[in-house]
Amino acid sequence: MAGVDPIEIRRLASPDLSRHLDGLAAVLPDCVAGRASVSYMAPFSHADARAACEAWSEEVQQGKRMLLAAFLDDTVVGTVQVVFATPPNQPHRADVAKLLVHRSARRRGVAQRLMEHAEAESRAVGRTLLVLDTVTGDDAERLYTRLGWTKVGVIPSYALYPDGRPCDTTVFWKAL
Ligand SMILES: CC(C)(COP(=O)(O)OP(=O)(O)OC[C@H]1O[C@@H](n2cnc3c(N)ncnc32)[C@H](O)[C@@H]1OP(=O)(O)O)[C@@H](O)C(=O)NCCC(=O)NCCS
Repeated sequence: MAGVDPIEIRRLASPDLSRHLDGLAAVLPDCVAGRASVSYMAPFSHADARAACEAWSEEVQQGKRMLLAAFLDDTVVGTVQVVFATPPNQPHRADVAKLLVHRSARRRGVAQRLMEHAEAESRAVGRTLLVLDTVTGDDAERLYTRLGWTKVGVIPSYALYPDGRPCDTTVFWKAL
């Protein structure tokens, strides 16, 4: 129907999360294949991704992280996480991690929608300061700037691209 937003953002927890683990696991290798520096080195298989998703799922059940998924026609096309497992002296803070959108669904606002929901859900549970880091100069850096995040600075050669080349990292924060 015209005018209906086809992108749906859902916060996944048990039992929904277990049902969508394979869908989530499909997004991660696609991003690594697209040379995104998101913790993993190439080659990165669906089985590798499934294992990572299972570990995240356990932490979601333990309340240590929140996982949001973006659906297009009932297929997972993107995801983002908020890590709540902060030290005792940082109960108001959380880290945003693993903002990932499948290459087939990019440039239609999926990441922006995921981030808006992540911020709203974090605020709703009393987290008033979010922190993240991202590859310097990549698409995500423009997104965070557009969404009102403040850039702290750049750490040179902080991480590696999947093919082993070093990349700089930019650290951002946002008060909610
Ligand atoms: C970074 C990433 C998450 C962005 O996802 P995305 O869903 O394409 O992001 P958005 O659609 O919200 O915004 C991307 C661009 O599309 C544009 N856009 C949004 N909706 C649009 C639409 N309907 N039509 C045309 N363009 C649109 C945005 O303005 C933005 O433009 P810009 O890059 O020139 O600033 C994605 O590229 C990705 O997964 N990269 C690999 C993993 C990664 O690096 N993650 C970040 C880790 S911190």
